[in-house]
Parts: sequence; C-alpha cells; structure tokens
Amino acid sequence: MNAFNFFLPTQMVYGQGVVKKAGEALALGSKALIVTGKSSARLSGALDDVLAVLPGEYVIFDQVENNPSLETVEAGGKLAKDEGCDYVIAIGGGSPLDAAKVMAVLAVNDLPALDLYTAGWENRALPIAAIPTTAGTGSEVTQYAVLTLEQEETKKGLRGADLFPQVAYLDPNYTASLPLHVTVDTAVDALSHLVESYLSNRATRASDFVALQGIALWGTAIPALRQGRFDLDDRDALLLASSLGGIAIAQTGTALVHALGYSLTYYEGFPHGRANGICMAAYLEYTKQAAPERVETVLELLDLASVEAFGELMDELFADHAGKLDLAPETIAHYVNKALLTNNIKNSLGNPAAEDLTKILTNSIR
Ligand SMILES: [Fe+2]
Repeated sequence: MNAFNFFLPTQMVYGQGVVKKAGEALALGSKALIVTGKSSARLSGALDDVLAVLPGEYVIFDQVENNPSLETVEAGGKLAKDEGCDYVIAIGGGSPLDAAKVMAVLAVNDLPALDLYTAGWENRALPIAAIPTTAGTGSEVTQYAVLTLEQEETKKGLRGADLFPQVAYLDPNYTASLPLHVTVDTAVDALSHLVESYLSNRATRASDFVALQGIALWGTAIPALRQGRFDLDDRDALLLASSLGGIAIAQTGTALVHALGYSLTYYEGFPHGRANGICMAAYLEYTKQAAPERVETVLELLDLASVEAFGELMDELFADHAGKLDLAPETIAHYVNKALLTNNIKNSLGNPAAEDLTKILTNSIR
C-alpha cells in the first residue's frame, strides 16, 4: 500500500447556467478585477452572464494575450491595486486564467513579477473565481500559473497553494463558440495532462482514479474531434475531462511532454496543445519500456490499437494546420537542454536522459 496526499481546495460548480444560478454568490469580495483575453470571454457569453448577476463594483482587464508576459500580469496587478479590488474573476482559456492568478498575487505583494520565481511571495493572493471558456488548461482547479519568460526564452510555471481558485464555474456551453482549431488544440492539452499524470512517477491511486476517468471520458469525444463537429455531450465530455486533467496534474505535475512542448511554443510558435500533441506518440513509445501496462491502459481507454494509431490520431486532428516541423540537430539539442532544466522531466517514468529526449523529439518530427 502506498501512502498519498490528495489536495483540491477548489469548489467546482458544474453544469449549464451555473454562473447565472450563482447570482450574488459570484462575488468573493466587494470589488472584482475581471480578467479576460481579447475575445473568448465575450464571444462565449460568459462575461455577459457574469455582468448580469454580479453585485458590487468591478473593473475589467481584457488585454491578456496568448502565453501571457510578465508585463501583462504586472499591468493587471497594478490595476487591481489602484482600483482597490479585493478579489479576481478570471474568464477565458489558460492564458487569462493563469495571468489572473499572478495578478491576484501582485495585487497584494510589492515586487516585480520575475521575482516571484525566485523569492516567492509573502501575502496570500486575492481569492479567485475561475470560469473557463476552453476545455484544455484545467487551470481552474490547479495551483499553477504558466507565463512566458523572455529572460529565459521559455514558458515557466509558478505554483502556490493560494493559486488554486476558490471556486470554478464550469459550463460546457461557454466552449460551444470556440473555433475548431482551438477546440482541438485545447483538447489535446487536456489529454496530455491526463496521460502525463497517469504516467508520472508521482502518480498515486487517487490521482490515477481521476486521470483514468478523464482519459476514458476524453475518448468518448474522439469521433467528434475527428469529424470536427461537437454537440453539447461532446463539449461536456471535453470540459469535464479537462478539469479532471487539472485535478490530476495538481497532484502529480506534468512530465516531459510539457517540458519539450514549451520550446515548440516559444521558438516555433505552435499552440500549447499542439506542441504537446507533436511529442505524445514518441513519449508513449518511450514510456512503454518503463510502464508497458500503463501505456496499454491509456490506449485501451482511448480505443486505439497501438501507439502508431495514437500518432495517426494526432496527425489527423492537426492535419489542417499550417506549419511543418523541421528541426536541425543543434536545435533539437538546444530544446532538449532546456527541457532538462525543468522539474517536469523528473516526473517522467523511465528517468529520461538527454539521449532519450533527443530520440523522442527526433521521432516526433518525422
Ligand atoms: Fe498544458
């Protein structure tokens, strides 16, 4: 029997219309900093729903870009401070949610955002209500916030128990207006969280329970992902699978797929989910050496006959996207070295060394 610790302090409120039903309970204080990206909070209807029922004052920061920068979180933190906000409502995909978490920290701590990585922070972040409009990040139920660090030429995560949102409102209808490529990209991110958690050397029986349910649920949406058409049941499956992925990685962290994927996003410009998807089949093939039964279980739950079939699914899902990956050996070596600097690598089964990562990345771009 292996002991474990399972921590999930976020209240999840799941279902259609949950924001409007929450009504005044949506307010976690007297004045909200509402954080959104440039479009999805409005297009999804989530922002309108929030504004329709939110009591008290608010100020909106709607300038969060994809892969948010330190400058953006500092601007949001300053706005919260100047306006006297005492809680945060984050609406959107992973970028607005992660940026909002760091703004919640900077609103009550006087230091440059970069210093959070080295010095941490003293004062507890403002309470956060998270409303995802994509089904991928799982950030609404994690203690992580990933930002782009130009100084280190990569994406890098902060973590802290106070970065868990106090409450997450999950309504699959908010993901219905997503363009197909965002739906696919974020879905593959969710799958990578679930699989990397299940194949982590930090996996526990409790995190496995969550990850396996999530993988099975994700699998039910494969026909819709292949066809590019989604009904509410598909949206529901993907959103819940995404949150289960968040709960799972909150316990285990992510692994080498994310470590390699960060360079494919930072240097090659691939969206996060696709960057992960590029590496996943070779990662499964590699992990078969250390944990053949676990890899087999993943494939069975997805109703895929082999790792090759998994790779074909990824190719099919991303077939319409522009951008072919062709990396020189020295570029691969650079990305491998950057990945080796991350903690994610240590979570991977098989204790991967530089040569393993090189092989995985090389096989990924064939
Ligand atoms: Fe991710």
